[in-house]
Amino acid sequence: MTDPSFELLRPWLHGAPQPTLWLADENLLGSNLRPDPAVQMISNRLDLVDSARALGWRADWCDFDLSSHTEGSVARVVYRVSKEKPLVHHCINEAWRVLRNGGELILSGDKNEGIKGYLERAKKLFGNAEVEKVSGNCWRGLFTRSDQPGEMLDDRDYDRLRPTCRDDDFEYWSKPGVFGWDKVDRGSAFLIEHLDTFVAALPEPPDRILDLGCGYGYLTVRAARLGAPIVATDNNAAAIAACRRNVAEYGIDAEVVPASCGDGINQRFALILCNPPFHAGFSVEDDLTERFLAATARLLEPGGVAGFVVNRHIMLERRAAGRFRRIETLATDGSFKLVLLADAT
Ligand SMILES: C[S@@+](CC[C@H](N)C(=O)[O-])C[C@H]1O[C@@H](n2cnc3c(N)ncnc32)[C@H](O)[C@@H]1O
Repeated sequence: MTDPSFELLRPWLHGAPQPTLWLADENLLGSNLRPDPAVQMISNRLDLVDSARALGWRADWCDFDLSSHTEGSVARVVYRVSKEKPLVHHCINEAWRVLRNGGELILSGDKNEGIKGYLERAKKLFGNAEVEKVSGNCWRGLFTRSDQPGEMLDDRDYDRLRPTCRDDDFEYWSKPGVFGWDKVDRGSAFLIEHLDTFVAALPEPPDRILDLGCGYGYLTVRAARLGAPIVATDNNAAAIAACRRNVAEYGIDAEVVPASCGDGINQRFALILCNPPFHAGFSVEDDLTERFLAATARLLEPGGVAGFVVNRHIMLERRAAGRFRRIETLATDGSFKLVLLADAT
């Protein structure tokens, strides 16, 4: 799938001045995007970094931490805006900090992602803007760094881990940049309500648990009462940091592993818990669905059970049919359903 807003940035990623930073969040890499030696790609998503490296790009995986770049050291920053406002604001503020005088920030995005607001606010910070509506709803802005900053954008203290939400038993540490960072996800809470039903489907209590796509670690914290060691894994750098914080906070026997769809994890697990990042009707997610299901089939030990929670409109059962012999919808509510997967083919 091509992303029209990302396409607007292509000309700025070729023949770029040294050094150029390309901040990459949701956008996909076009397979024909040739690497430019002056450009360093930075992303919080391990899958994007891995595919960029495979194409020959210099790429770093971090939570958009630009602190290794000193003030005024960068010639150009290229950024197709992310979905989350504090993250976008953080990246624009950091672009101002690292750019040298005369250096340029190129921003693009879609109208329904709030790009017009971001362009306005970046203009207040940089004091200048060349903004154009390029096609459809896609906008691009070019900002040039000068001596004095205008108004910094409110990034809600992006870098800081903090207690953000709680339920009856735990307070959860998280930060912007993590999925649903300041709340307990209703789907995940539904899965935990029925945790014992999944455990009852096992021949004995689980001796090892996998939290696949762990986010800040809600499922890990709640499943710790089962007493089994846990592996929690995610591809997002902010999620890994937050999950490690929660595991430390509650002294949980868990290893938190950065990986895309569990790649590189080679143990097998009696119980896999997953609230996957699928969205109904979004074609690019199809591959992700396949990868999460394939990882689950690979990582489930014989006799093991996986508990998935998904939006009730997602046909997970149909997608899982080729990979598991036992597929049961255990519960549904108005929004979600819980699916048990076992006996991988
Ligand atoms: C719906 S959230 C669930 C988060 C957490 N388990 C919870 O209950 O709050 C899905 C998670 O999958 C992660 N994710 C997305 N793509 C991934 C990938 N390719 N590999 C691993 N994790 C991924 C996201 O970063 C996000 O944390």
